[in-house]
Amino acid sequence: MAAHPIPEEMTAVVLQEYAGAQALQVVRRPVPTPGPQEVLIRVAASPVNPSDLAFLAGRYGLDKPAPVVPGIEGSGTVVASGGGVMGRYLLGKRVACVAPARGDGLWAEYMVAPAGNALPLHRSVELEQGAMSLANPLTALAFMEIARAGGHTAIVNTAAASALGQMVLRLAARAGIVVINVVRRQEQVELLTRQGAAVVLNSADEGFPGRLRDACQQHRARLAFDAVAGTMTAQLLEALPNNGRVTVYGGLSMEATEILATHFIFQGKSVDGFWLTPWMERKNLLQSMLFWRRAQRLMTSALQTHVRVRYPLAEARNAVLDYQRQMTGGKVLIIP
Ligand SMILES: NC(=O)c1ccc[n+]([C@@H]2O[C@H](COP(=O)([O-])OP(=O)(O)OC[C@H]3O[C@@H](n4cnc5c(N)ncnc54)[C@H](OP(=O)(O)O)[C@@H]3O)[C@@H](O)[C@H]2O)c1
Repeated sequence: MAAHPIPEEMTAVVLQEYAGAQALQVVRRPVPTPGPQEVLIRVAASPVNPSDLAFLAGRYGLDKPAPVVPGIEGSGTVVASGGGVMGRYLLGKRVACVAPARGDGLWAEYMVAPAGNALPLHRSVELEQGAMSLANPLTALAFMEIARAGGHTAIVNTAAASALGQMVLRLAARAGIVVINVVRRQEQVELLTRQGAAVVLNSADEGFPGRLRDACQQHRARLAFDAVAGTMTAQLLEALPNNGRVTVYGGLSMEATEILATHFIFQGKSVDGFWLTPWMERKNLLQSMLFWRRAQRLMTSALQTHVRVRYPLAEARNAVLDYQRQMTGGKVLIIP
């Protein structure tokens, strides 16, 4: 069932092998056909996220044989349905979408996804913001749920000048939770301070470990969210009080972590991981719908993302390289 005329061919970006941006190629290929319980989406926009960089390098939690179309999240309009109640309901709707666990992603003019991967956008959310309404907004809300459930009145967050870090800062301010923001450059200290952050520490400063420990003590922070890993995870564990926990949610440093056994044995400290996909799967349908609705309502305020630059599909490689050069200060969007 189709709602719009659909061409036979489309432009798509294909990752030929898991070797980063250099392995991206722009090709013409047939528009895919949705199977049962699937929908065809005309893609409007898709950001380049750290997860995409990890995917291009073969280090993301999805195991798809190359060649494959990358692009983990994005937005668009459902233009055809392969059948099923959900597919028929979504036909003609503007949606946010996540790439299927198997098959192609969103860096193409059209993509097929299971109907359950497409979530209708609230009328107040434009397609560009909608393209960035899954990974970071839902993770920021998840962090607030985790912090509240554990009775935390203060948290640490690293790589805190990221789009996600800025959302966490805004949500935490509303929830009365203090954020100890850890960044790695002075410009990032200034960026977050301008946004109202009370505590921002630069990990490149001499004396950072001591300052981090003092801040954790002063604000009674027992939980740290860590997007950096490597030596940062060890520094966070060292700084937290006994029984403190580091939840690693990103591996931006691409380094392994060395942790002292003392932290686990005598100080009761722990390290765990967070990935949005299984975290969301633990919610039932009603909980997921309410969570999504809440995120959508906040998309024009606390969960908004600044866009730095837009690239057409044909320049996807430049989009990735540009993003790698400058991650702070707004997202790079790919616009088919
Ligand atoms: N686990 C999950 O389910 C989940 C979901 C969503 C997001 N995430 C993670 O959340 C993090 C933020 O994502 P985002 O989209 O908000 O990022 P973003 O807006 O693109 O910003 C990335 C930030 O990380 C900083 N950074 C990069 N490499 C770093 C390093 N080695 N050490 C310290 N800082 C570094 C960048 O600073 P510079 O400008 O100095 O490079 C930039 O401020 C990423 O790690 C992402 O993978 C995880």
